[in-house]
Amino acid sequence: MNVLVTGSSRGLGRSIILEYASNGNDVIINYNNSKDEALELKDYVESTYHVKALVIKCDISKEEEIDSMIDEIYNEFGHLDILVNNASIDLDQDFELKTKEDFMKTLEVNLVGTYLLSKKIGLKMLERKTGNIINISSNNGLDTPYPESIDYDASKAGVISLTHNLANYFAPYIRVNTICPGWINTDMSKKISNEFKEEELKKILLGRFAEKEEIANLAYFLGTDKASYINDSIIRIDGGVRR
Ligand SMILES: NC(=O)c1ccc[n+]([C@@H]2O[C@H](COP(=O)([O-])OP(=O)(O)OC[C@H]3O[C@@H](n4cnc5c(N)ncnc54)[C@H](OP(=O)(O)O)[C@@H]3O)[C@@H](O)[C@H]2O)c1
Repeated sequence: MNVLVTGSSRGLGRSIILEYASNGNDVIINYNNSKDEALELKDYVESTYHVKALVIKCDISKEEEIDSMIDEIYNEFGHLDILVNNASIDLDQDFELKTKEDFMKTLEVNLVGTYLLSKKIGLKMLERKTGNIINISSNNGLDTPYPESIDYDASKAGVISLTHNLANYFAPYIRVNTICPGWINTDMSKKISNEFKEEELKKILLGRFAEKEEIANLAYFLGTDKASYINDSIIRIDGGVRR
């Protein structure tokens, strides 16, 4: 199968690529800034797992870059089986300092980018009457409010809403599901202070942040036939929340 994972130069996206590639799938690695990491990942999966890997630079907040990425993928691979909408930014800062520009930038990447990719690739999948879309949201999109990430939380709640409309539109041919992780050990979570991390750890029943691979396993499972009846689902994976 051919699998595109957006934002797969680093972090969770990289682990999702490794999961699919190690199971024999051809992969498209998308980056925006981290070119060297993306090229290193391509070399690694091609030499280790003997699959085909394509690296594409695309800022998913720019529609023309999305269009040229899709053209390149379809020219090179003919079709896509799985789209994993993983790329995301968080511009955490003081509630009072956050600007409209910050808010719009976060929505453009996390929500509008996910919408455009899902719509454009979903319609192509529909022509073949088969496909699979997996979105990475966050438990912030469900019920974990943080005023300093009000834009990020709104974008992630928006991705949950997209899931239902996309699953509806593409039924019965394309399954659309969304994963809502809690904290994961990646660059995104490295930015927080030790004090805040301690507070957050106290709320998690398993007492630790997730490893990237623990979330990537679920992103892989949803793309397989073992998940053939899972559709339009919002799946929380956060180690359990202390109540
Ligand atoms: N880490 C957590 O605690 C956590 C918790 C819940 C949910 N999540 C979600 O899990 C997913 C992965 O997060 P992560 O922690 O792996 O993030 P990360 O370490 O910050 O990595 C973000 C990735 O997204 C890419 N990206 C950012 N803006 C992009 C754009 N405009 N176009 C294309 N790619 C772009 C980056 O690529 P470049 O470096 O090439 O620019 C990078 O590969 C995200 O959807 C995030 O919201 C994370």
